[in-house]
Amino acid sequence: MAQRLRLGGIAYGGDYNPEQWPEEVWAEDVALMRQAGVNLVSLGIFSWARLEPRPGEFDFGWLDRVIDGLHAGGIAVDLATPTAAPPAWFQRAHPDDRPVTADGRVLGYGARQTYCPSSPAYAEACARITRELAARYAGHPAVVLWHIHNEYGCHVARCYCERSAAAFQEWLTDRYKTVDALNEAWGTSFWGQRYGSFEEVDAPRAAPSAVNPTQQLDFRRFSSDALLARYRAERDIVRAADPDVPITTNFMAGLTDNLDLWAWAREVDVVATDHYTSAERADNQIGLALSADLTRSLAGGAPWLLMEHSTSAVNWQQRNIAKRPGEMARNSLAHVARGADGVMFFQWRASRAGAEKYHSAMVPHAGTDTRIWREVVDLGTRLQQLAPVCGSRVRAEAAIVWDWESLWALDLEYRPSVELSFRERIDAYYERLWRAGVTVDFVHPTADLSGYRLVVAPSMYVTPTAWAEQLRSWVRSGGTLLTSYFTGIVDENDAVHLGGYPGALRDVLGVRSEEFLPLRKDERTKLVAPPRLDGAAAAPGTAGRWAEDLTLTGASAVLQHADGPVAGRPAVTRHAYGEGTAWYVATAPDPGTLDAVLRAALADAGVRTPSGLPDGVERVRRVAEDGRGWEFVINHADTEVAVPAPGGGHVTVPGGAVEVLDIASNIAGGAV
Ligand code: GAL
Repeated sequence: MAQRLRLGGIAYGGDYNPEQWPEEVWAEDVALMRQAGVNLVSLGIFSWARLEPRPGEFDFGWLDRVIDGLHAGGIAVDLATPTAAPPAWFQRAHPDDRPVTADGRVLGYGARQTYCPSSPAYAEACARITRELAARYAGHPAVVLWHIHNEYGCHVARCYCERSAAAFQEWLTDRYKTVDALNEAWGTSFWGQRYGSFEEVDAPRAAPSAVNPTQQLDFRRFSSDALLARYRAERDIVRAADPDVPITTNFMAGLTDNLDLWAWAREVDVVATDHYTSAERADNQIGLALSADLTRSLAGGAPWLLMEHSTSAVNWQQRNIAKRPGEMARNSLAHVARGADGVMFFQWRASRAGAEKYHSAMVPHAGTDTRIWREVVDLGTRLQQLAPVCGSRVRAEAAIVWDWESLWALDLEYRPSVELSFRERIDAYYERLWRAGVTVDFVHPTADLSGYRLVVAPSMYVTPTAWAEQLRSWVRSGGTLLTSYFTGIVDENDAVHLGGYPGALRDVLGVRSEEFLPLRKDERTKLVAPPRLDGAAAAPGTAGRWAEDLTLTGASAVLQHADGPVAGRPAVTRHAYGEGTAWYVATAPDPGTLDAVLRAALADAGVRTPSGLPDGVERVRRVAEDGRGWEFVINHADTEVAVPAPGGGHVTVPGGAVEVLDIASNIAGGAV
């Protein structure tokens, strides 16, 4: 990525909004950026009203001066199309093109992202400003990356206006071809919902009761595609004008769920994401690692760009907790450890006015005589030293299945329990693997699994027959699969696989369930090893949320429920299938028990877990094609730890610090 961006090292910088400041400040900005080691800034993200003050009238003079000033200072530009902030003149001229919520509210303007993805007027206005911008700056030596729009789907992910409903009808016509096929897929015989033509179908607006679930699932698919069409249109204009410069847009991988990012990732030249830690979670390093692993997986393992994070507090959480000394660097290096070749922030200079004035920045309100500024400068130096890491990759032997369609479908109403949540189960499994020191990739259910030893599929609810077949043959040829409850239940149309649960995977798991037996809120059962397997790897514990009327059809029970309404039923099973093994976790075990189950599955798969990993310490490796490698040892605890060094002996990592060990020569880098 660094080579494609012609940066010669890790990208470092942030969103730069010079139009918020008088021109005198711009020269100081460039001088300070140089002091901090900044080599890339994102420019123009919300500048539409300044670039096109009146329809068709353009003012690029100020942007020319900014870009030329940056270029003279040796700072490269990630130039944005400004279409996430349509100007007031657009809103006044097109009052019918504003987004509409499911309950019919028309959203106003005066914030950002007031647009309907299916509005032809918006598409036309976006194309015009994008054409002008691309024509003016194509070939400019400062522009090393194009940044389309900003965080698609962040504020308005779905629009329910008449234009969107019509676009949805077209999307459905394309998907189903005939209305009979739609009726079949949606199961419209239920509640008398049969449609006579595509024109009769509406967006799934607020209705007296639950709207057809497949209609809702398709609307989420359509809405992700509608935004993607907007992205593609702008990208294609930029590409035609400036074919050699890579193009990206910033995802919010693992933070918002509105886009099917597997589809989006195919459309960008460089995968970029934004990540903000949740200040009220003490262990937010786990959420950060998940987001970074997901982003790397979207990039197919290639290096990626952290487009935004924060130097300290954000402004939009309930309590905007400041980062502690060292935390910003620790967060930044944790992203680099998991494959980022760039560390950027929102934003360069803290705003004096506007909605985000209390958001931290690289240059705080208090100026450069501040802890934050000193840490920004130190981080710049540290990243420069890490330039050789660029281009190296993280390798994982285990993978977790991530599928936005399952996530969306599980979010719908009328499921067997409100506690069924794709994300909740992903987090539970990811956390145990993180704590065990196992690096994971995320994969789409149809991905090539041949490079993995263990695949974990928590709540992969949507499982079309073809996907199940692929998993089945992977296990048959030696893979170890571990799935949790509510996996393999429905096909792509949210229609149940018949014959007993989990329909699509019954044979490979060697179990059959007649009925779901969800537990009451806060109800817990005891888990014990069944008598004949007493002393097996998994330790007894407790479970909550979910149970099933499960019988064994080839698998053996590793744990069973010992009390309550489900006493005696299998809770965790293991099935030798072909050359491989398939585990089924039919409940939500407590963390210790889940850890034991996962460790047993890891052992089946032959995935080694690091020994001597102290609590709160993260170790991740990046390896280059030429065999060089680095191990990032990140100490999230407050106290010093000693961890085994790759070449023998121990290395000491102070509380809150990060050591980067050269795996080949075992030379420790400096502590943060
Ligand atoms: C991001 C957004 C930025 C800024 C930031 C604040 O989601 O892209 O423009 O709003 O959040 O944390």
